[in-house]
Amino acid sequence: MTLKNTAQSYGWISIAMHWLMALAIFGLFGLGLYMVELTYYDAWYKGSLDLHKSIGIITFSILLLRLFWRSINIKPAELPAPKWQKMAAHWMHIALYIVMFLLMLTGYLISTAKGKAIPVFGLFSIPALPWTINNQEDISGLIHATLAWSLIVMSALHAFAAIKHQFINKDGALNRMLTPK
Ligand code: HEM
Ligand code: HEM
Repeated sequence: MTLKNTAQSYGWISIAMHWLMALAIFGLFGLGLYMVELTYYDAWYKGSLDLHKSIGIITFSILLLRLFWRSINIKPAELPAPKWQKMAAHWMHIALYIVMFLLMLTGYLISTAKGKAIPVFGLFSIPALPWTINNQEDISGLIHATLAWSLIVMSALHAFAAIKHQFINKDGALNRMLTPK
């Protein structure tokens, strides 16, 4: 069982965290767009928000674990590609991490704008910061929505590049994120 990354591919832990987070992010995006259309009188108004926040916090924890795991692992060797594509892939990965982080941070800031803690599946709570800023909910909400759309567009480009490399260049780019070697 190859848990750690190797020179040829990602290991099971990186693979599991990559796909779990991709699933959570697409799910949170859909749920986010759906729930902001609901009104206070809809049956699932509070439930959908609580679910979005709980899954969001769990995804945030996985992101922190993922960054830690990345820091103690090697990166699989670069695939043969023109220099600009290697640079584009590298900077896209960094940008995806930054946008994921800021998206979850702004989610936290919207949810704690009134100084209230965030309950996570009713099991435990994440406390609010001891201070808030003026209009925190609206400002963070606007940034959160903009980042959410940016992340979806960026991940679509990223997925498109991976699929193109796998099926047109036939360099096994996608295999490296599916099964370890
Ligand atoms: C990667 C993870 C996330 C994605 C993709 C995501 C996506 C979204 C989207 C698309 C919306 C609707 C925005 C709009 O159209 O106004 C939204 C709203 C919201 N999100 Fe997230 N979100 C994520 C993480 C989080 C986290 C971690 C929290 C809190 C802990 C959170 C809290 C909220 C709240 C409270 C709203 C409602 C904002 C409002 O009422 O205008 N989100 N999210
Ligand atoms: C929300 C969606 C996604 C996010 C945020 C995301 C994020 C990332 C990040 C940050 C990396 C870099 C891993 C590292 O070196 O630390 C990565 C690698 C990778 N992703 Fe995604 N990803 C997403 C969806 C997808 C999808 C849908 C596909 C394919 C259809 C895909 C295919 C890959 C592949 C093949 C790699 C490995 C690239 C390499 O070997 O250099 N990702 N992803």
